[in-house]
Amino acid sequence: MMNMMRHLLVSNRKVEGVLTLITENNWLAEGQRIFSSDDGFSRLIPLSPSADADLPKSLSDFEIIICEGKLDERVDTDWWNHLTELLGKEVVSKYQESWPSSHEFLGDMMVVRINDDIKSYTSEIAKAKLLSHPSIRLILSDGGVMGEFRIRELEVIGGRKEPTIYTEKIPSEIKSTKVLIKESGRYISCDPKVAYYSTKLQTERLETLSFAKELRAELDRPLSICDPFCGVGPALSTLIAEEDLVGDLLASDLNSAAVELLFENLQRWDKRDYPIESENLQRYYDDRIVGLADATKISLNPEYAGKWDLLLVNLPHRTVEFLPKLVPLLNRTNTSMIRGRVIVAESEIPLINQKINQILPPTATGKPRPELKIKRDYSSALRLCSFEAWIEKEN
Ligand SMILES: C[S@@+](CC[C@H](N)C(=O)[O-])C[C@H]1O[C@@H](n2cnc3c(N)ncnc32)[C@H](O)[C@@H]1O
Repeated sequence: MMNMMRHLLVSNRKVEGVLTLITENNWLAEGQRIFSSDDGFSRLIPLSPSADADLPKSLSDFEIIICEGKLDERVDTDWWNHLTELLGKEVVSKYQESWPSSHEFLGDMMVVRINDDIKSYTSEIAKAKLLSHPSIRLILSDGGVMGEFRIRELEVIGGRKEPTIYTEKIPSEIKSTKVLIKESGRYISCDPKVAYYSTKLQTERLETLSFAKELRAELDRPLSICDPFCGVGPALSTLIAEEDLVGDLLASDLNSAAVELLFENLQRWDKRDYPIESENLQRYYDDRIVGLADATKISLNPEYAGKWDLLLVNLPHRTVEFLPKLVPLLNRTNTSMIRGRVIVAESEIPLINQKINQILPPTATGKPRPELKIKRDYSSALRLCSFEAWIEKEN
């Protein structure tokens, strides 16, 4: 599975100084390695997802490249050693291709995917991972994203309560899956057991930020932004952090657990009060409409229709189906933009491009027509794609 991430491109002679600054700030991506550029004159330094979206002036001369990260095999040696100690060389080499050598960090939790053929070794996998990552509290196995709320089916398979590692009868006080994650310099509360959140979307969110800045430059004012599938709000975290970018905001989701976490996050990012529990979509401040709502029905409310310069559509398996009901949310008195994600078979991309162009109003003059760009594999046959559509103002 591809792991696209930010890398800082630094000429070889400057690497040492830059690396000192990056490590002092804790911005080096854990478990990834620094590698040479194609021309051999520079190094690509992998940045942690928690590193600020805008790096400080001292680093701003260096280009940021979004490309696939390379695993630091040395970090992994530990986990293989522990696994081999627990199971013996024979078993480890028998299932060589199946062991979960990659994993995702969510705060002090680690998420791994365990193939069916090695399910019977789940506790040994959990133990080996905990032994090789001393700062990890909880290990969860990921059964994939399910249902309308796109929640991951997560099972706690191991935990640490110093000085003990548990793979069964895990004490309830260490089993909480609610965590605070630092992404692009901002804290996000999330609980992947009850609401969708993925660290893998960070680079997507940074791309959205750069499109939003482009749209702001065209409109010459802060944007009205609508994120009707916002989950716990990670896309908004990056946008709100940018000064004078977000004017009015509508943020909603169909999952009440996500809305509860969204309120907690907005309270932190906006420094204003929001309810503690989920509430139906409503206006809380002159520039904030937040709450529980079915995205396909929001434009039926005249107060919310025709108001938004930037519309985010992040429900990739239903984006195309929902688009007709979302378009009326756009503010057509000026250029506007939709940024969406779609899951599709590679062979169907031309057809879906055609469909999207049919559904959407005309493309803004001088801008490219919306087109799916493959971001990564979703499964062997399906691709996760994104698109941006610049929409012409209505005469
Ligand atoms: C793939 S997640 C994306 C969440 C968030 N934008 C993010 O990047 O983390 C899709 C979200 O859409 C929500 N959802 C599904 N159907 C919906 C609907 N009809 N109206 C509003 N939200 C919906 C789910 O609960 C889920 O939080």
